[in-house]
Amino acid sequence: MLADLLSSVHVWTALTILVGAYLLRPKKKSPFPVVNSYSGDFLGRRARREVRDNARGLIAEGLAKHKGPITIVLPRGQQKIVLPASLAGWVKSNKDLDHQQLVKEDFFADVPGFEAQTVLHGPDNAAKRIIATKLGQNESTLAPMSASLAQGLQTLWGDDSKAWRTIDWRGDTMGLIARAASSVFVGPQQAGDQEWLGLVQGYVLSYFTAVGELHGYPAWSRSLVHWVLPSAAACRKMMRRARVMMQEVASKRRNEAERAGQEGKKAPEYNDVIAWAQADSGGSSIDPGELQLSLAMAALFTTTEMFRQILIELASHPEFVEPLRSEVSREVSAHGISLVALNNMGLLDSFMKESQRESAGLVVLERAALRDTVLPTGQVIPRGAHIMVDSSELWDPAVYPSPLKFDGYRFLRKREDNGSSSQFVQSGLGFHVFGGGRHICPGRFFASNELKLALAHILLKYDIRLAQGCDKPKPIQAGFYAMVNPMVQLEVRRRSDGAVDILS
Ligand code: HEM
Repeated sequence: MLADLLSSVHVWTALTILVGAYLLRPKKKSPFPVVNSYSGDFLGRRARREVRDNARGLIAEGLAKHKGPITIVLPRGQQKIVLPASLAGWVKSNKDLDHQQLVKEDFFADVPGFEAQTVLHGPDNAAKRIIATKLGQNESTLAPMSASLAQGLQTLWGDDSKAWRTIDWRGDTMGLIARAASSVFVGPQQAGDQEWLGLVQGYVLSYFTAVGELHGYPAWSRSLVHWVLPSAAACRKMMRRARVMMQEVASKRRNEAERAGQEGKKAPEYNDVIAWAQADSGGSSIDPGELQLSLAMAALFTTTEMFRQILIELASHPEFVEPLRSEVSREVSAHGISLVALNNMGLLDSFMKESQRESAGLVVLERAALRDTVLPTGQVIPRGAHIMVDSSELWDPAVYPSPLKFDGYRFLRKREDNGSSSQFVQSGLGFHVFGGGRHICPGRFFASNELKLALAHILLKYDIRLAQGCDKPKPIQAGFYAMVNPMVQLEVRRRSDGAVDILS
């Protein structure tokens, strides 16, 4: 009898379904209705498919139907509570809703090799402090960034003014952003080091790959699985190498200072994150290699994706090229490569913000509840729950008329109407792409300056276009997030009319 049962396909199928359903069950029931639960979907296949392909519909229909927060179940049973956009202000100001805790959990801060994440959200907030106080509106970072961009473009995009060439879409965009950022993170000298550039970009790619892969495994198994994942192993290896390389830089600088002291000279001064971090902590608390990879992780992917989307818009809307060129040219001629010039580039700012609006994700303000938290309606978000806020206002015709039309002047007009509340770096009603409240992205000023400088160089030095047949590629929706199309073919040609001297 038992032997018959054990050899029955039906029994094994039933057992598999039961075990699957048990493993995939929600860990702690959310008090808000689940919008992707379907009868008969024991293994959660349809639930997963709906999140992957139809997150926009799930959120819009769920919020409209339930007139309040909803729950979406992710693969592996994780739950996300989506709040309506009207609660954005409440989320931003609520101290019990924490971004850092959410990131630690969703991005596996405790996995060896992922120390970049731990450092970025360390208890003393040193990394965040350096980003906010030193990287932001710091005039002295612009010249090295500009020089690094000039050199990077020459190397990656070339200087042929006779023929168009197709750039390596992923490598030549991230490569440029990595060079510009590194000129401030590690200083111009180290930023030209090919091994270092390869290391920071390789780490970012391996890290996000590893995080995505780990999410595919059951939570209980991840603390073992990461040891055998090649992407996670690559992170560990690169983390070790980064520590060594930064120790070498630190030791070289110490030796230089000692030698200068012995010769009665002033020690060389450095204007980069390595030096700022040493001054901030007395040289002790954060490992410089870990700090560098944490900055790379926060800065490179986000800024590169934004850069790519702006390039697509620029190539798809050639009518903006001349007005943008003349704005850049006017401001740089009048004020040099300076914060004043960048801040005055109102059309470029608006063009960038419109590109960001168009390619934004479906949710903003992701937080973990540190304790049971009472909503203004009296409902309770349970401790440990993950919440996010619907961002559909970005495409709401009542907030942004003709929301599906790309309008590069949209935020310039708003800026002229309401003062400065519509600048690229600003968050506010209907626009939280950089987050908000105490967790608002501290790197947004740096990203804005870096992007404007990169685009100024490109506008003045290059013509760009999409390859034939590569019609305006739309962002790819993957669950809650949007990804810039990775298959774009962008063609570039160096301009030969000599209008480039002002940036050299
Ligand atoms: C276009 C580029 C960027 C985008 C779109 C972006 C977006 C974001 C978003 C949405 C958040 C979460 C804020 C919230 O939920 O309130 C965030 C946080 C953060 N960003 Fe950025 N970011 C960018 C560039 C950068 C750069 C260049 C750096 C560093 C140099 C950086 C460092 C950080 C840090 C440290 C946090 C965590 C803040 C906290 O938890 O308190 N970001 N960013």
